[in-house]
Amino acid sequence: MIRSKIAGIGMYVPEKVVSNHELTKYMDTSDEWIQERTGIKERRYAHRTKETTTTMAAEASKIAIERAGLIPSDIDFIVFATLSPDYYFPGCGVLLQRALGMKTIGALDVRNQCSGFVYALSVADQYIKTGMYKNVLVVGSEKHSFALDFSTRGRNVSVIFGDGAGAVVLQPAEEEEGRGILSTHLHSDGTEAEILAMYNPGTHANYWVKDRTLANFNEAEIGEMFISHEMIDKAQIFPYMDGPAVFKIAVEKFPEVILEALHANGYQPADLKLLIPHQANLRISQFVQKKLGLRDDQVFNNIQYYGNTTAASVPIALCEAYEKGILKEKDLVCLAAFGSGFTWASALLHW
Ligand code: COA
Repeated sequence: MIRSKIAGIGMYVPEKVVSNHELTKYMDTSDEWIQERTGIKERRYAHRTKETTTTMAAEASKIAIERAGLIPSDIDFIVFATLSPDYYFPGCGVLLQRALGMKTIGALDVRNQCSGFVYALSVADQYIKTGMYKNVLVVGSEKHSFALDFSTRGRNVSVIFGDGAGAVVLQPAEEEEGRGILSTHLHSDGTEAEILAMYNPGTHANYWVKDRTLANFNEAEIGEMFISHEMIDKAQIFPYMDGPAVFKIAVEKFPEVILEALHANGYQPADLKLLIPHQANLRISQFVQKKLGLRDDQVFNNIQYYGNTTAASVPIALCEAYEKGILKEKDLVCLAAFGSGFTWASALLHW
């Protein structure tokens, strides 16, 4: 049986470090509040003009490709996860293909927010297992700093997010090698799609204005444009999040999907060498750790230094764990994510 293994991994974070203290210059917040509620000490922000979601992805990809012993023209498919694309369309996949001078290979964009990378990995895994492709580049990259409300009004969202990118190259491995992805598990429930969302620009005609349900909208309030001056004036162009509601669902879905992956393969939490949870909030990770009875050394967190980098957070954390020498070949690793949609997902693998 063919499995897909991570043959190379890379990450890139912008040079500019933004501390919690720095944010107090723009909004009513404090280092104490942010650290206590989220664990975040600092995050990185991309260069305003020189760095985009694609340029950061390209830097991370170059490292992943080199570590896999390849050159860009060896890659035969791209799966790119982001919620902060360079353009509304086309997606970042083609921009990465161009940036790295790859062949005219397929490029697929994944719009699954915080669980985007795990979804993307799952897609790539299927291509490898069926034998369709041999070297698939899977990327998660985000430039959040360009779309956050830095006034006090947006503080519950803007203090959390940071910029960065992570990438892996997936390749086939024989089962006897003892390496590779054992299974992936994907879920969604759109019932509460609007409680963590960026509504504009979009084609929803403002139906969310009234109770955020289609049934309740008032004809007179229907917007006529994809994006309007009014939306900008009313600051409706930033992400919206009901933080406490998101927290409640996240702490339920994370343990559920991690246990699903472990049990599907006959394992228990104690068997895990490392859990790499999406870095949503340190308090969420700590809650999940406690619920699963994991030791500190079984859970990797780096949100303290990067904030929540959405689709980039899992590959950045996995890359740091690898670079710190925490991961040894064949170690049992679980990747897990939860985010806007809601979508949640896990992948269990032997490193
Ligand atoms: N600095 C200071 N005060 C802030 C603040 C900030 N950055 N953001 C919000 N507040 C205030 C609120 O205005 C509120 O004030 P009030 O009591 O006077 O109305 C108070 O802090 C509590 O707000 P609340 O939203 O209830 O705080 P919380 O304890 O739930 O923490 C989050 C907010 C966002 C940190 C938390 O809900 C969270 O992490 N949720 C999950 C978010 C997440 O993981 N999102 C990504 C999913 S992938």
